[in-house]
Amino acid sequence: MIWVLVIGSACAVAEPILPLQSVATDARKVALGRQLFFDTRLSRTNDISCASCHQLFSHGADNSARSKGAFGRLGEVRAPTVYNSVFNIRQAWDGKAIDLKAQVTLPVENPKEFATTWPELIATLNQDQAFRTAFTQVYRAGLSSDSISDAIAHYERSLITLNAPFDLWLQGKATLSEQAQEGYRLFKYYGCINCHQGKNVGGNMFAKMGTFGDYFGDRGTAIEPADYGRYNVTGREEDKFTFKVPGLRMAARQTHFFHDGSEQSLTGAINTMARYQLGRSLSQAELAAIAAFLESLVGHHQEMDQ
Ligand code: HEC
Ligand code: HEC
Repeated sequence: MIWVLVIGSACAVAEPILPLQSVATDARKVALGRQLFFDTRLSRTNDISCASCHQLFSHGADNSARSKGAFGRLGEVRAPTVYNSVFNIRQAWDGKAIDLKAQVTLPVENPKEFATTWPELIATLNQDQAFRTAFTQVYRAGLSSDSISDAIAHYERSLITLNAPFDLWLQGKATLSEQAQEGYRLFKYYGCINCHQGKNVGGNMFAKMGTFGDYFGDRGTAIEPADYGRYNVTGREEDKFTFKVPGLRMAARQTHFFHDGSEQSLTGAINTMARYQLGRSLSQAELAAIAAFLESLVGHHQEMDQ
């Protein structure tokens, strides 16, 4: 199996990972969406915005295993990054939202995130005359769950990290360290690429956590409802413990890994992947090389300078 893939990738004209590029957005909707993304009035407690958990100056998520929402309540899974999320086939670990626009309702109504309702949120925002006027100039029907979600989704479409060292190297515009190149080779050779592929180095399929071992049995903590992953959405037995394969573009900036946030080091996460997804044991040098490759995937966005 692995040999077939190695030969396949050596012959392939295109690389299995593509450079990130901007996607089309509407600048006026992006501007409104940005305002909403940073607006704490979205939460019932007036103290949490999307940006509280999805910190854009950092890697588009926070530095904890569980994010704190309204009333100080903790969530059930680790917050993933919003950077490059437009490229995901579905949103959320279990793929419960079909796209970015549909995803917005989840934090609004989640008692552990904004803990509010659409009618309440729309009423609050409608009290702000200036915002209401600006919003209505773009969305003629005014503030609604649909228009608010649309504006935020437009803003998220603009959150693409560009010019990663790896992308510049792929395009022949810059050199890449030998270690990072070796990491990329290993990433393909061992088969990480079977699941983490495409522009976002993941985000385009679902896979079971623990193909080659009992990850949850070995984890040492009881199985939580969220651990059932995609099964919670589809109810299909084969979807138990299956998750959306996360994009790895920002992985090297994360402090917590996996849906349960249980891993706190990048090389630890790579090691766990090799063991449970591929049944392999990697050397320290191999782990370091793959980490260097993942580091080279980190691109830039102007929000990081704010
Ligand atoms: C209290 C913390 C918190 C707040 C506030 C919050 N999120 Fe999230 N976000 C999360 C967590 C946790 C997840 C993972 C949820 C899951 O998989 O079930 C998530 C998932 C996402 C995803 C899916 C990313 C992916 O790779 O699947 C997107 C997009 C997103 N949030 C955008 C937003 C937007 C837009 C807002 C504001 C309207 C927001 N979030 C508010 C914590 C938060
Ligand atoms: C069979 C598919 C599959 C293969 C092969 C695979 N992964 Fe993963 N990877 C996943 C899934 C699914 C997750 C999410 C698991 C979870 O959250 O419980 C994940 C998570 C990760 C994470 C954590 C990202 C985050 O945001 O938490 C890293 C890093 C990672 N993989 C790297 C690798 C590397 C390096 C390899 C090769 C050694 C690899 N993966 C092989 C499916 C795979």
